[in-house]
Amino acid sequence: MKNGFVIAIDGPAGAGKSTIARKAAAALGFAYIDTGAMYRSVTWKLLQTGQPFSPELAGRLAREIRISFRPEGSLNCVFVDGTEVTEAIRSAAVTGLVSRVAAVPAVREAMVAQQRRMGREGDVILDGRDIGTVVFPDSPCKIYLTASVEERARRRGKELEAKGQAVDYDKLQADIVSRDKQDMERETSPLKQAEDAVYLDTSHMSIDEVVGAILKLAAERRLRA
Ligand code: DC
Repeated sequence: MKNGFVIAIDGPAGAGKSTIARKAAAALGFAYIDTGAMYRSVTWKLLQTGQPFSPELAGRLAREIRISFRPEGSLNCVFVDGTEVTEAIRSAAVTGLVSRVAAVPAVREAMVAQQRRMGREGDVILDGRDIGTVVFPDSPCKIYLTASVEERARRRGKELEAKGQAVDYDKLQADIVSRDKQDMERETSPLKQAEDAVYLDTSHMSIDEVVGAILKLAAERRLRA
C-alpha cells in the first residue's frame, strides 16, 4: 500500500512543535500524530502500575499499549487503552521520567512500528525527535524546529502561568537544558537534524508565521513528490 504524504517535524523540547504541527495539520486536512505524547503515554502507564521503572517493564508495556488520538478544537486528545490521558500525560511525574522511558530500545521499536502503521493510513504530520532521521527517513518534507533555550523557557512559563501556576524561570531553563542533553546524547535515535531537513529557528517568529512557512514548504514539496 502506498504511503500518504508524510510531513516530519523534529526538534527539542518546548520549540512549539505540537502547537505548530496541530495547526498545520488542521489547515491541510492531515492527521496529526504527537509522538512525544506516545512516549508520555507509555510512561503514564508505567507509573499506573505502581512498580519502579525498569527497561523490561517499559518495553513490555510499550508492546501492549493501545494509543489513539482525537482532535477536539485546540486540543489533541490522547487515549490509552480507551482512557483519556490528555492532561495526565503532562504531569510533572510523567515529564520527569519520560526521557528514561524513551531511551529504552524496546520502547522505541514498539512506538516506531505504530508510527509507521499510522503513517501508512494517509496524509499525516508527525512531530518528535527522530521522525525525519529514523521513522520516515524518506519523507519529502522535513522540518527541524527550534528556538533559543531562553525563548523556550519563556513560552513554557507563560503556558504554566496561564494555568495559574507559579513559575521559576531559572528552573524551567535548567529542566529544558537537561532534557535536551538527555534527548541528544542517548544511544538509540538521539535528537539530531536530518541532513535534508529545513532548519527553522522560531525564536523571533509568531505561531502563524511558522505555520505559514510550513504550509508553503509542504505545497512546494507536494508538487515535487
Ligand atoms: O515532545 P515531548 O516533550 O512531549 O516528548 C516527551 C519525551 O519523549 C522527550 O523526552 C523526548 C521523547 N521523544 C522521543 O524520544 N522521540 C520522539 N519521537 C518524541 C519524543
